[in-house]
Amino acid sequence: MNIIHHPDEMRQWAFDRRAEGKTIGLVPTMGALHEGHLSLMQASVEENDLTVASIFVNPAQFAPHEDYDQYPRTLKDDCAKSEAMGVDLIYAPNASAMYPRNYASYVEVERLQDGLCGVTRPHFFRGVATVVAKLFNTTVPHKAYFGLKDGQQVGIIKRMVRDLDFGIEIVALPTIRESDGLAMSSRNKYLSDSDRKRALCISRSLNTAQELMAAGEVDAARVIAKVREVMHSLEIDYIELVDAEELTPVDSIKGPVMLAVAAKVGDTRLIDNMRFDPTDDFHAAPKQYDINTSIDSEAGGA
Ligand code: PAF
Repeated sequence: MNIIHHPDEMRQWAFDRRAEGKTIGLVPTMGALHEGHLSLMQASVEENDLTVASIFVNPAQFAPHEDYDQYPRTLKDDCAKSEAMGVDLIYAPNASAMYPRNYASYVEVERLQDGLCGVTRPHFFRGVATVVAKLFNTTVPHKAYFGLKDGQQVGIIKRMVRDLDFGIEIVALPTIRESDGLAMSSRNKYLSDSDRKRALCISRSLNTAQELMAAGEVDAARVIAKVREVMHSLEIDYIELVDAEELTPVDSIKGPVMLAVAAKVGDTRLIDNMRFDPTDDFHAAPKQYDINTSIDSEAGGA
């Protein structure tokens, strides 16, 4: 597998391939790859001449008390998985090349970064937007692929791309779930067997909400109360119904919304979400666990 570790070398490779007329798809990851990542790679391989997967555990998106040191690092295994998916190049920059001494420049996406996960992780989206901007500047992709499990992250990146004229198409793809409904996440590795079972009430609660809304419930407080009931055994961080683009809370469901939840299961914080558009016929017949497939397939437009 070809691996590049330095931003300058990465940018040169990307410019050279572009000069040859090749299109480039980027799949940004922090490694510890699971099927969710692989589905992004598959889409990129299908839609672009070349696919770059970045693997970088980004220190700027972890607070000092968070799991930066424990975050799983499995580069060899990740390279093998990426190669099997048809990825052409791994970009695995060194932290010192990404954030040299006296590093001082950050990207902030105002308002969208403040709610939901931004409340308990105020540093987080600044770190994400900054590293994604840097990855875009070095891999110079035509398209970049993100999973909708991180719904707020996708909204923020789309807005950054639009506002800062990156000219990159953002492709947001459905959450990939285990057969019992648990959204795939690199952090699922932290769950004990009993916590993993307890975590299933998260996807169950989203299904319940989807059924409620598909049946015509428009009152956000009633939907949230139902979700809270199903998730009562967990330490809930938030349950919110927000406008799907602005990420601001709604009182009633009139247009596309995202129901987003975060909860601690044991020591592990998990997030999940579903999107719902009352004008979309799809929702008349919700499928169990298939809760994200209605999503916005429009690229780059949030
Ligand atoms: O979703 C992730 O894995 C990370 O937030 C990302 C987008 C790779 C930035 O570090």
